[in-house]
Amino acid sequence: MTTGMAKVAGVMGWPVAHSLSPRLHGYWLQQHGIDGAYIPMAVQPDKIEAALRALPVLGFRGCNLTVPHKERALDIVDHVDPVAARIGAVNTVIVDEKGKLKGFNTDYIGFIESLKASVPQWNPKSGPAVVLGAGGAARAVVVGLIEAGVKEVRIINRTEEKARALVEGLADGRTQLRRWPWGWPEEALADATLLVNTTTLGMKGQAALDVDMKALPPTAIVMDIVYVPLMTGLLQQAQARGNPVVTGIGMLLHQAAPGFEAWFGVRPAVTPELEKFVLSKT
Ligand code: ATR
Repeated sequence: MTTGMAKVAGVMGWPVAHSLSPRLHGYWLQQHGIDGAYIPMAVQPDKIEAALRALPVLGFRGCNLTVPHKERALDIVDHVDPVAARIGAVNTVIVDEKGKLKGFNTDYIGFIESLKASVPQWNPKSGPAVVLGAGGAARAVVVGLIEAGVKEVRIINRTEEKARALVEGLADGRTQLRRWPWGWPEEALADATLLVNTTTLGMKGQAALDVDMKALPPTAIVMDIVYVPLMTGLLQQAQARGNPVVTGIGMLLHQAAPGFEAWFGVRPAVTPELEKFVLSKT
């Protein structure tokens, strides 16, 4: 039920029609019987500042940001959480009691929470993690791995310069960050305990990811952040050789929980029923 007292939040993107967030937050609002609304907002790139500034004026509790607004929002919000600054992107905005905009990044939390929920026995100290890609999603994943206490992360990316920038930008002494040229280098994979694809390869409508997992131990967890299709080529091949696999939908579901809690006052649960409900749209 939505009354005149409803708590309101939403997602800004351009385009926004593909976003699964309204469906996801709508499920939780209904589940908890909250007087609230979560709406899609199609905001053109050059209007993002005006749109964010309008949030307190309109009485919004905050919003999520998706492509292409996440990076630009860093310069607009009044306060940026240090981890969001490190990642270089804001995906969650909270309007505080004084009407100030606070920017956070929950993608890295979503990544780690999803991994822990799918493979509870995962031990961040068990060995090196390999990350395919060096874009925005890779930055959130690498920060998640650093925050979780992984001691070595190996970045494999097509464009060397982007991998170098990621390694230099995120190195902080806690975790060794190393980079490899694009491919499936044996020395990067042989003792890895986790492999994560953060590239767009394997996504519906994109080129396939060329996979050669020979050198990867069969005990290594294989995770894809692509979730359309849910079982990507990478995950299918990993599963066939016995590796534990983690699909990409969990990261989307788990990244949404902190925002929902801040705006609507309830910590929501990520359940198999929620996953089924959200995926029934894709
Ligand atoms: P996102 O924010 O989703 O991470 P992005 O910043 O555009 O998106 O990053 C996309 C990632 O997919 C990059 O690591 C990109 O590699 P480059 O740095 O070389 O561009 C990777 N990627 C996309 N298409 C690729 C392809 N055909 N082959 C190899 N890597 C590809």
